[in-house]
Amino acid sequence: MSSSSSSTAAPSPAIQSILPRLAAVRAHLAPPNPTTARNLASAALTSSTKPTSTINMAKDKVAIIGSGNWGSAIARIAGQNVVKHSDVFESSRVPLWVFEEMIDGKKLTDIINTTHINVKYLPDIPLSDNVVAIPDIAKAVEGATALVFVMPHQFLAKALDAIEGHVAPGAKAISLIKGVDVHGSDIHIFADVIEKRLGISCSALSGANIASEVALERFSETTVGYRKDKEDEGLLWQKLFETPKFRVQLIEDVDGVSLCGALKNVVAVAAGLSDGLGYGNNTKSAIMRIGLLETKNFCLEFFNDVKPETFLQESAGVADLITSCLGGRNRKTAEAFVTTGKPFDVLEREMLGGQKLQGIHTAMDVHNFLKARNRLGAYPLFDKVYHICWDGLAADTLTDGL
Ligand SMILES: NC(=O)c1ccc[n+]([C@@H]2O[C@H](COP(=O)([O-])OP(=O)(O)OC[C@H]3O[C@@H](n4cnc5c(N)ncnc54)[C@H](O)[C@@H]3O)[C@@H](O)[C@H]2O)c1
Repeated sequence: MSSSSSSTAAPSPAIQSILPRLAAVRAHLAPPNPTTARNLASAALTSSTKPTSTINMAKDKVAIIGSGNWGSAIARIAGQNVVKHSDVFESSRVPLWVFEEMIDGKKLTDIINTTHINVKYLPDIPLSDNVVAIPDIAKAVEGATALVFVMPHQFLAKALDAIEGHVAPGAKAISLIKGVDVHGSDIHIFADVIEKRLGISCSALSGANIASEVALERFSETTVGYRKDKEDEGLLWQKLFETPKFRVQLIEDVDGVSLCGALKNVVAVAAGLSDGLGYGNNTKSAIMRIGLLETKNFCLEFFNDVKPETFLQESAGVADLITSCLGGRNRKTAEAFVTTGKPFDVLEREMLGGQKLQGIHTAMDVHNFLKARNRLGAYPLFDKVYHICWDGLAADTLTDGL
């Protein structure tokens, strides 16, 4: 009875005075309208031009974990965007974890912090001054609430060992790492590995993004896959990465985005082998088509939540496959594997200036997984790449049986 009478009574002056603030809080916390992710994204992007709320929301603090070719290109964008969106992000400092190495007698971190250029992995292209190179990974992630993982997959486990226990409450992550984590007949994407290990939600970003071209601000698109019911995280990552020259699209599909990014590197190796054999454009197009089909079949066979539109409508799908089969390190070294006869580890050292190959390792992981599941026969292109790269099979058998 008393509750019904109090609900109809006029609020006291004290309550009235805080009603506008309560309404603002409610509006801030309300779930977004059920429109498309793209519309939501546009709304979010334009919101930065509206008057900022009087509510003092905690800002997200970004840390970039990895500083190779792609890590540096993405740190460059993040460093600029935290300033552009300083209502959302802590903008004065973006820690960049750098695996320390000596360059001409100087520490790479010192070089980056004085010249603002990662001379080894992204020469000639300056990072913004707020990007700070840090050699201690635990210090780099201290207090960070938006963790960007961008390193060759072979170094992730050790990085997670060092980060565990240092992650801020309420943190979320995004994985830009290519590859798959295979144990016998189990397979996981690296966003799952990060999520499980750190107990935080992890999105994924992948697309037709050759790092040097993105860093030079050639127009490119990418895809952020976010978790179910985590559009807000997708929007946050979009804010961190989107520029007029780097368009970020969103889809609720972390698995599909990650798997397309991993498997296209195997297809790119096949394309490079074909180039080395001098087979021409018809063969390369056939490899791309078969590779996309095997990618799609693999995703749909082994992962339940992959969205079919990721393959053709998103940059992470067909566009990344095309760009990787035309350019990129996996294609390039596979071509040299055929033309020079040198093994991949030698070519990696000679041709990539410290950058790491992914495609041949993913080919082995995928082979081991499919073998454990007794499904090799359904994926002849993936299987052929494995045998040529790791098993001494002649490269000119590439198209046999496809
Ligand atoms: N480069 C690209 O164009 C591109 C584009 C999209 C995605 N990716 C993916 O992004 C991820 C990161 O690639 P990248 O291009 O930034 O890296 P990269 O291949 O340039 O790798 C070199 C990085 O590994 C680090 N490293 C070397 N030895 C190490 C060790 N023992 N422990 C820890 N770190 C060590 C180096 O310091 C450097 O930061 C990869 O999964 C890659 O496939 C790359």
